[in-house]
Amino acid sequence: ATTLGAAAAQTGRYYGAAIAAGKLGDSTYTGIVNREFTMITAENEMKWDATEPNRGQFNYSNGDRVLNQALNNGKRVRGHALLWHQQQPGWAQGLSGSTLRSAAINHVTQVATHYKGKIYAWDVVNEAFADGSSGGRRDSNLQRTGNDWIEAAFRAARSADPNAKLCYNDYNTDGINAKSTGIYNMVRDFKSRGVPIDCVGLQSHLTNGPPGDYQANIKRFADLGVDVQITELDIAGSSQAGGYSTVTRACLAVPRCTGITVWGVRDSDSWRTGENPLLFDGSGNKKAAYNSVLDALNAG
Ligand code: G3I
Repeated sequence: ATTLGAAAAQTGRYYGAAIAAGKLGDSTYTGIVNREFTMITAENEMKWDATEPNRGQFNYSNGDRVLNQALNNGKRVRGHALLWHQQQPGWAQGLSGSTLRSAAINHVTQVATHYKGKIYAWDVVNEAFADGSSGGRRDSNLQRTGNDWIEAAFRAARSADPNAKLCYNDYNTDGINAKSTGIYNMVRDFKSRGVPIDCVGLQSHLTNGPPGDYQANIKRFADLGVDVQITELDIAGSSQAGGYSTVTRACLAVPRCTGITVWGVRDSDSWRTGENPLLFDGSGNKKAAYNSVLDALNAG
C-alpha cells in the first residue's frame, strides 16, 4: 500500500494524526490529512477549556469542525480528552472537593453525550499518574477530589456513550517502569471489579526511539484484556527513522495494539518546536521517517 492508512489497514489497524481546526484551511495540510490518515484526534478542540468555557455552557464548534473533517472523509475519531488536570477552564481551576467532582462528572456526561455514537475511543482520563511510584499526581485538583475519581469518570463515560472504547492515556509509560506499573495495576483492578475500561493509550513522545521493553509493555497491558493504542507519537533525535520503525513493528507484533496516532502532521505543526519530530517536513514532503513507517506497515 502507498499510504499510511491503507498500509495499516492491511493488518486491521488504523494510522492516525492529531489535527488542529485552525489549520483546515491550509490545503497542503488538509491534503496530507485526507490522503494518509484513517483516524483523527483533535489536538486541543475537545479539551475541557475548549468545550465548557463557562460552567454549564458548552461550545462544540471547533471540536465539531475536526469531527466533521474526519467523518466527512471516511475517517474515525479518537476523542481527547474528557478529564485532565491541564487545559481546564478557569472556573474549574477555582473549584475543589465535591463541587469540582460533580462539575467534572457532568462535563464527562455532557461531552460524551454530544459526541455519542461518533467516537471510536475516548481518552476518558489523561495523565493522572505522577512519574515514579507515587501513584495519582499531587498536582491535580481532580486527584484531590478523592482517589476514586478515575473510575467515576469511566462509569459516567460508559453511561453516556456505551459504544465508545474508553481509554486511560499517559506519557512516560512506554516502557516497564514504576509509573506504567501503577497504571497496569489500576487497569487490572478495574477489570477485576467491572469498572469499564477498554484501552490504554501510550502517548510515546520519544527521543531516538522507544525503550527496549516497549513491546513487552504493550503486551502486558494487552494481556489484561484491553486494547493498546499509541496515541501521541512523535520522535526527535538523529535515530528518528529507526525509532519510528521500531515503534511500528512493536505495535504490529501485539494483536491488541490496534493503531498508531502521530501528534501532528508536519514538523512545523508540532508542539515540540524546533525538534522536527514528525513524518512530514514543513513543506509537506515525506521524510525518511515516513518511509520507514510505511515499509514497516507493509512488511507487517
Ligand atoms: O489558541 C490559543 C491562541 O488563541 C493564543 O493566541 C495562543 C497564545 O499562547 O495560545 C493558543 O492556545 C495554545 C494551544 O496549544 C493552541 O495552539 C495554548 O497556549 C497551548 O498551551 C496549547 O498547547 C497544547 C498543549 O497540549 C497544552 O497543554 C498543544 O497544542 C498540544 O499539542 C498539547 O497536547 C498534549 C496532549 O493534549 C496531552 N499529552 C501531551 C501533549 C503535548 O503537550
